[in-house]
Amino acid sequence: MTRTYEVRTYGCQMNVHDSERISGLLDAAGYLPAQPDTTPDVVVFNTCAVRENADNRLYGNLGHLKPVKDRTPGMQIAVGGCLAQKDQGLITTRAPWVDVVFGTHNVGSLPVLLERARIEEQAQVELLESLEVFPSTLPARRESTHSAWVSISVGCDNTCTFCIVPSLRGKEEDRRPGDVLREVEVLAAQGVLEVTLLGQNVNSYGRSFGDRDAFGKLLRVVGAVDGIERVRFTSPHPRDFTDDVISAMAETSAVCPSLHMPLQSGSDAVLRAMRRSYRSERFLGILARVREQIPDAAITTDVIVGFPGETDADFEDTLRVVEASRFAGAFTFQYSQRPGTPAADLPPLPKEVVQERYERLVELQDRISYEGMQSQVGRTVEVLVSTGEGRKDTGDRLTGRARDNRLVHLAGAAGVRPGDVVETVVTRAGPHYLVADGALLSHRRTAAGDATEAGRTPSTPGVSLGMPSIGVPAPLPAAPACG
Ligand code: SF4
Ligand code: F3S
Repeated sequence: MTRTYEVRTYGCQMNVHDSERISGLLDAAGYLPAQPDTTPDVVVFNTCAVRENADNRLYGNLGHLKPVKDRTPGMQIAVGGCLAQKDQGLITTRAPWVDVVFGTHNVGSLPVLLERARIEEQAQVELLESLEVFPSTLPARRESTHSAWVSISVGCDNTCTFCIVPSLRGKEEDRRPGDVLREVEVLAAQGVLEVTLLGQNVNSYGRSFGDRDAFGKLLRVVGAVDGIERVRFTSPHPRDFTDDVISAMAETSAVCPSLHMPLQSGSDAVLRAMRRSYRSERFLGILARVREQIPDAAITTDVIVGFPGETDADFEDTLRVVEASRFAGAFTFQYSQRPGTPAADLPPLPKEVVQERYERLVELQDRISYEGMQSQVGRTVEVLVSTGEGRKDTGDRLTGRARDNRLVHLAGAAGVRPGDVVETVVTRAGPHYLVADGALLSHRRTAAGDATEAGRTPSTPGVSLGMPSIGVPAPLPAAPACG
């Protein structure tokens, strides 16, 4: 009988996309996605090592699954992703009922390891220290009919002192532009309208093959692919963000007027301690040049509050830069020690100091975000309708993203499907969303909308494997990709 699987994903877009590869691999190996409310034969945890309480959560979940496994003959549990790469053999010591542990560098081994664990009736732990096969050469079961992740690089050569990602994802490896382009063309042919180019630091793309301008060029060629209407990318790095990228964004109509530019701190002393090799002036200069060429760009960011050694004056600098930056939104974090990072041994600031600064920062950014959203009222926006994010309090609303990536709640309209494109006027705004509840100005039915209706999602084949298919569309997560 065909075995079924479920993949549970934690963490950032890297993991979300890796999970699409994991699903594609299992499809190609003859497994089927488990139907809702059934017990899968294989549960795969794709883990994150940094998000709040990552390990407690994993071991808690594994504990809950043990009695299920005990009463389900043949059930297997696999753990992969960043926490697996970090904890390695510890996972089968703490949870001996786990069958397979695999890391970030050998996602492609999963089907073989599951098979071997079944035959040998013994847990298989396989972790590599460097990439074996670029994950994008593996087949994928895509989650969305209209928006797709496209990996352009994996790993990171930076050494930000708060970040564990380089030790878990390894050195940066870039895909060749031709491979990226082919994947985008396959997606476009299947109706995908929007691609998000993914890398821990997209702006260093090309260094490994000796082309420092490669990212700007890539934006232009991807933006020219027939059928691709929206190109996004994450995450850029202020150190490597060059003017040719801004020009490529401004001159390529498919590249969206949105940018997620991680600030982390507005204090030069703290940036130095974080080993972030740009300074606040450079950061503000980039934003000014982006806005000069792309006046309506919505710029978002990440900020960490309470890094060890951050003084009141440092924090005031952060507030000053945040005020000046006019971010459309920000992911704000209270610094927490992460074992294995260079900053892990630095003495932390008192909790109440960090909390108080955090609250002040959130209050400031909420005001700025709200003002930015209010400025959109009365504008006509083009919305790519997505799914699953509708507001519960208002019933049958559709939700989508404007070109600048702002979240838009739409009045329900007959015949509009996730994947379709509509134009409408913004009538109201909240701090983190826009509302357009008047009649639609236009509604374009798309191939992506047809695919949603037919329950079909796009798939990209592996280099040597066949084409798997169908799945349930899911919303794109909003969390940043860069640790
Ligand atoms: Fe690399 Fe981003 Fe981590 Fe810095 S924060 S080391 S750029 S992944
Ligand atoms: Fe977490 Fe790994 Fe992403 S540690 S944030 S899943 S790169």
